[in-house]
Amino acid sequence: MFDPIEKLKEHLRHASVSTDSAFKEGMNGSRDFLESLFGEMGLKVEIVDTDLHPIVLAKRQGNPSWPHVIIYGHYDVQPADPVELWESDPFEPVVRDGRIYARGAADNKGPQMAHIAAVAQALEENPDLPLRITFLIEGEEEIGSPSLLPFLEARKEELSEADLVLLSDTLSPSADQLVVTVGLRGIVALEVAFEGPKSDLHSGLHGGAVYNPLQALFEVCASLHDSENRVTVPGFYDAVAQVEDWERDELAALGANEEDYKEFLGIDALHPHPDYNAFEAIRYLPTLEFNGMGGGYQGEGSKTIIPSKAMAKITCRLVGNQDPFKVGALVKEAILARVPAGIKATVEMGHEGSPYLVVPPGRPNTPEDQPVRLAKAFEATGRAITEVFEKPPLFLREGGSIPIIADMKKVLGLDSVMVGLFLPEDNLHAPNESLNLAVLEKGIQVSKKVILALAEG
Ligand code: BES
Ligand code: MN
Repeated sequence: MFDPIEKLKEHLRHASVSTDSAFKEGMNGSRDFLESLFGEMGLKVEIVDTDLHPIVLAKRQGNPSWPHVIIYGHYDVQPADPVELWESDPFEPVVRDGRIYARGAADNKGPQMAHIAAVAQALEENPDLPLRITFLIEGEEEIGSPSLLPFLEARKEELSEADLVLLSDTLSPSADQLVVTVGLRGIVALEVAFEGPKSDLHSGLHGGAVYNPLQALFEVCASLHDSENRVTVPGFYDAVAQVEDWERDELAALGANEEDYKEFLGIDALHPHPDYNAFEAIRYLPTLEFNGMGGGYQGEGSKTIIPSKAMAKITCRLVGNQDPFKVGALVKEAILARVPAGIKATVEMGHEGSPYLVVPPGRPNTPEDQPVRLAKAFEATGRAITEVFEKPPLFLREGGSIPIIADMKKVLGLDSVMVGLFLPEDNLHAPNESLNLAVLEKGIQVSKKVILALAEG
């Protein structure tokens, strides 16, 4: 049996940044690493080409009467920028104080390794384990999984006969309190461009006569929220799912405290929708966020111009039954309706993904036809976490997005059991990303118990 931490280090050395074509070598390296690791485990590995980054599919086949679990993960990572803020090389993992530091340590190479190591151990101890396993590790999660939907559609017949999906790519609040994630937000990305005069203008010669595109963009963008942080796009809150009492109870049991949260973030006030507290707003409400805005002179000193152009990047997080295409169209329409005369505007829709909700067994709103193997998987996961972490998990929705999870439900009819193995202090998508190695070790034990329970049928 390999050492999971050494294997993880090896994986983290491959700079698999999916968004930047300069990292092709890292993407290839990461894929080759997985291919040989799964090969060593005796799995049948297939590298499925896509328009962009291939998918790694590794299978343990067996008797069709055996249960079948798909284990999902992603081998791509976010860019390491700004690299100068890292205390050590983002692609040369180091262990300090019980944590492993590197880009991708938490999102998603570490948590993914928990399941790989668990399967390797389980199969080594019982080569006849009556369980079919398909690892589906994609390379485009951080850019919205453009190739996954066509892949699922093409392989629908073979994948849809699985019973459920198991993964760890979500958050737990602390190393003592694990969460089984039962909801993810959807997403839709938009890019807005405003164009005024045909070139940058001298602000002395023309200032006062024309609408400044940056000013127009700020005004329109500022109008998209009211002073209490409600989104003002007509219809924006349609199809927001209702929140069940048991969900509110679980969130209350989390005991999250707004003072601690503010301190953690380094801010002196939170700004949620007036009808929700901050922790509810993250999970139960859609948002409209400005991810970047630009235009005009950004260099040192000042420059007296009226810029010709301005742009903004927006993403909306979605919940419940919201349709990303519909919400994207509503936002686009609202922006275009507010553009002043003298400005030409375009709004392009980018990547999107649907929100996802699953109800664990035994809740008032659990579907009556919930598949038995899914119910058992939730129960086994709850038990395994209780034994290993010595505390039962909370079943909570999460604010992040993994668009493929809703796609697997839509296309394959499969629900997901999501075990949160990264923590708020792990710095996902930020400098000095790390993973708590004690959580990784325990995560392996949890995953192994779940796998053994699934094999029981
Ligand atoms: N692992 C995250 C999703 C996540 C983050 C779930 C925090 C729960 C809590 C995933 O890799 C990710 O970052 N997804 C992107 C998706 C987007 C690019 C379509 C996200 O949520 O921004
Ligand atoms: Mn992730």
